Amino acid sequence: MKSSITQGVKILATGSAVPDLCISNELISNMVDTSDEWIFNRTGIKERRISSSPTSLIDMATAASMNALNKTHINAIDLDLIILATSTPNDLFGSASQLQAKIGASKAIAFDITAACSGFVIAMVTATQFIQNGSYSNVLVVGADVLSKWTNWSDRRTCILFGDGAGAAILQSCSVLENNILGFHLNTNGQKFDQLNIQCEYSNHDKNFFSKGLKGSFKYITMHGKEVYKFAVSKVPQSIQACLGSLNLSSENIDWLLLHQANERILYAVASRLMIPSEKVISNLAKYGNTSAASIPLALNEALEDNKIQNGDLIVMSGFGAGLTWGTLIIKWYR
Ligand code: UT7
Repeated sequence: MKSSITQGVKILATGSAVPDLCISNELISNMVDTSDEWIFNRTGIKERRISSSPTSLIDMATAASMNALNKTHINAIDLDLIILATSTPNDLFGSASQLQAKIGASKAIAFDITAACSGFVIAMVTATQFIQNGSYSNVLVVGADVLSKWTNWSDRRTCILFGDGAGAAILQSCSVLENNILGFHLNTNGQKFDQLNIQCEYSNHDKNFFSKGLKGSFKYITMHGKEVYKFAVSKVPQSIQACLGSLNLSSENIDWLLLHQANERILYAVASRLMIPSEKVISNLAKYGNTSAASIPLALNEALEDNKIQNGDLIVMSGFGAGLTWGTLIIKWYR
């Protein structure tokens, strides 16, 4: 999609936060019929962080946002826009406004984006549009999820996978010449929404609506793991190639492949299809598992703090998951 670009977008800083409680594979093996060996061999996960507080989504999003803001010269009051990518809000009307209040960004408009594990990429692309067309200058993008609250802890096919976390990025308008965000490519296939979802259900369906009311609630996460795995390994490389092609780049130009941290086998299968050496794959699955919208900014922030990513590096980020949605964002990194 073409847009009128008047401004560039600079990523000023990133931040992240995870809960303290660490749940190892061994601990999960005491709850369901699984083993550390199975989980690690099939997914690359060793442990994950789980939040226990009811306000954990906002607490983690706040901590990640302040972590990022504290690395910049701007204050929360300077923010024009906050986009919170989450599929696990603590309020169905949205959680971004609570984040806005908590960090004291009283001048910022704030809203949620619900796009599961593609949420951070889609939120970054959305923020980029507002900056590039000159509407806003300082934008906070957060990916945060507490999937532990929607996990069936007696279902071994899913409970081994997920963890909680938050990651943030501060974007600022800059001259087109200094632009960090080179391009994007987004897709959705709603025909397959039921391959991975948290379905809404209603009590008193069709009966006595006015006398008893119709109470909504949600089921646990359900996933057709094999199908989602095949989708990711086939569609993500296509998305990356399309995005690279639109910029006249090829996979040889990639310095870092930063995929949604769903399964280590997916990361290396996608890298192999694109002929990207494994040293260029960023992975922190072992420590956090799949943190949904948080996984990409969490891994990005860690890679930056570890000084892996250098000035001028080309980073390809791809998110994929429920919806089904998938998308790629290509960044040229400058401090
Ligand atoms: O974040 C959104 C995107 N999500 C993803 O990308 C997830 C994509 N899918 C996956 O990562 C993988 O499909 C899983 C990790 C979820 C599962 O790995 P798999 O290699 O596809 O295993 P499977 O579902 O085919 O199951 C293989 C066997 C089955 O036993 P049988 O039928 O062969 O006897 C399962 O019952 O492994 C069994 N199994 C387990 N065994 C021990 C399934 N889960 C477990 C478990 N521990 N936790």
